[in-house]
Amino acid sequence: MTVRAGIAGAGMVAAVHADAIRRAGGAVIGVAASTPERSKAAAARLGADLAFHSASELAVSGEIDVLHVCTPNALHGPLVRAALAAGKHVVCEKPLSLTGTDSDELVALAAESGLVNAVPLVYRYAPLTVEARERVRAGQIGAIRLIHGHYLQDWLARPEDNNWRVDPAVGGASRAFADIGSHWCDLVEWISGHRISELTAAAQTVLPRRSAAGHETFAGTEAESPATRSPAQDATESAQIAVTTEDAVQVLFRTDRGATGALVVSQVSPGRKNRLWFEIDGAERSVSYDGEDPESLLLGGRDRTEIVRRDALSPGAGRINAVPAGHPWGYRDCFAAFTEDVYAAIRDHSASRDHSTSRGPRTAAEPAPAYPTFADAARTAHITDAVLTSAAHRSWIEVS
Ligand SMILES: NC(=O)c1ccc[n+]([C@@H]2O[C@H](COP(=O)([O-])OP(=O)(O)OC[C@H]3O[C@@H](n4cnc5c(N)ncnc54)[C@H](O)[C@@H]3O)[C@@H](O)[C@H]2O)c1
Repeated sequence: MTVRAGIAGAGMVAAVHADAIRRAGGAVIGVAASTPERSKAAAARLGADLAFHSASELAVSGEIDVLHVCTPNALHGPLVRAALAAGKHVVCEKPLSLTGTDSDELVALAAESGLVNAVPLVYRYAPLTVEARERVRAGQIGAIRLIHGHYLQDWLARPEDNNWRVDPAVGGASRAFADIGSHWCDLVEWISGHRISELTAAAQTVLPRRSAAGHETFAGTEAESPATRSPAQDATESAQIAVTTEDAVQVLFRTDRGATGALVVSQVSPGRKNRLWFEIDGAERSVSYDGEDPESLLLGGRDRTEIVRRDALSPGAGRINAVPAGHPWGYRDCFAAFTEDVYAAIRDHSASRDHSTSRGPRTAAEPAPAYPTFADAARTAHITDAVLTSAAHRSWIEVS
């Protein structure tokens, strides 16, 4: 079965999804950008058969089996609801929605529908993060004591830098943490098996004013849509907008299994392009990973420290390792491996439907899918909510 996909949104990540869909054996049937004209240009650019008038039209189209939601964040919830109601499987970009409560509602809707639901928390699809998980789960590092690290970028480091993510009406109340801190938390929880149970956070908006004119898309592939522009962003070149979303966050946390941790998240760290780094310290060994150097994992020890490369992988990591060591693994490879797992589930869903064995909602006895789902994204949304509440109240907060 060729899975027929529609992509809502046509910026940086939409192009990555289009590539991953094809690599997973799917077809990019339709695209919708912010205006019909932009949809046409995007369809040509992404090689889609059809340009849709709007994302809401695409979400319910009979031409597609699965909707990929790659729009600015505020549109995620409405598009997910429309697609699920129309019987479409959904791959929704993170954040799934703007709050933990709304994310929980989307989790419930998806569960009732029995449809495949997934969120590209794609750092779970780097062979060496899988390797870290396999080794931690096999007990190689011993009881976990500390979990720490950072996720740093620099693309919003200057006052002239701006983006729809800066505007809370479009990006949500949290910017840096929801955008990238969520990836870090998902990844370390997935690897360690620990859950962040309480935290205290400080958040800073280091640039309280930004140029109104710098409202570019991440990739600069498409000027921002009128649908998502705020009046302030229509201002002249010299005009500035007031910023309320955070540029940087520091978090101290405790986990449900007795470990402690610390995380720094920033989008204003010069020279750091996309530095997701973590270390998990166990009683016997530590494991650390740098997303900007994804070809190796450091396995630390008092007597011996090893560098693990992609040529010595456990079966779980080997499963997704599509190219031999020495042939660099990249961000797009993570997306392709993720999409392969999701599309296998979609094919499985359709095969059981064709044999009239309706799948219905997943039962508690069934194993969790291999890929990250709405429930995983809702978890990160609750951590984000706790970070904002803690930063506002200057106190420790339990993560719900
Ligand atoms: N999983 C990841 O690693 C990852 C990486 C980057 C972005 N993302 C997420 O993907 C989403 C998009 O991010 P991006 O970096 O591609 O942003 P972008 O600014 O490059 O692209 C956003 C696109 O959405 C389009 N758009 C705006 N309003 C629209 C509307 N009403 N209908 C249809 N399209 C509309 C814009 O025109 C643009 O093409 C965000 O939610 C972001 O958090 C996830």
